[in-house]
Amino acid sequence: MLYTFIHTIHIYSVFIYGGFLFVDILFLSKMQQSLNENEYKKAREAIMMHVRKVVPYALMVAVASGLFLFSQIFGKIGPNGFSSFQIVLSIKAFLGLWLGFRGINQKLFGINPWVFKSHFFPFTLVVIIILLSQFMFLDFTSF
Ligand code: HEM
Repeated sequence: MLYTFIHTIHIYSVFIYGGFLFVDILFLSKMQQSLNENEYKKAREAIMMHVRKVVPYALMVAVASGLFLFSQIFGKIGPNGFSSFQIVLSIKAFLGLWLGFRGINQKLFGINPWVFKSHFFPFTLVVIIILLSQFMFLDFTSF
C-alpha cells in the first residue's frame, strides 16, 4: 500500500518535471521563431516565474520518492551477481540522482550547471530514464 502510494507520487512528480522539459524543448523554445529577442525574453520569463515555483520541487520529490522505491524494490544481490533488473535500475537511479543533484545545486545553492545551459541535456536524460524505467522489467537473460 505504501509502495503504491509513493510510486504514484513518483509518477506525478516525474510527470510534472519531465512534462515541463518536453514542453520547453518542443514548444517554448520555438517562440523564438515568431517573437523578437526582447519579446521572447519577456514571454519566457512570464512562464518561468511560475515554473520556478513548482518544477524544481517536483524534481526533489521525484528523487526522494525514487530513493524510497529503490530501497524497497532493489532486492538482494544473488549468488550470480546483479540481475539485469538491478543493473538497469542502478543506471536509471544514477541518472535520476545526477539530475537531482544538478537541480538541487541550482535551486538551493544558486550553482548553475556548467557546460549545459539549455534544457536539452536534462530533457535527453529524462527520455533515457523513462526508457530504462520500462526496459528494466525485461529479463535480458531470456533473450
Ligand atoms: C527525474 C528523474 C526521474 C525520472 C524521470 C523517473 C522516471 C520514472 C518512471 C517513468 C518510472 C516508471 C513508472 C511506471 O512505469 O510505473 C519510474 C519508476 C521507478 N523509479 Fe524513477 N525516475 C526518476 C528518478 C528516480 C530516482 C533518483 C530513483 C532512485 C534513486 C528512482 C527509482 C525508481 C524505481 C525504483 C522505480 C520502479 C517503481 C516500480 O515500478 O515499482 N527514480 N521512474
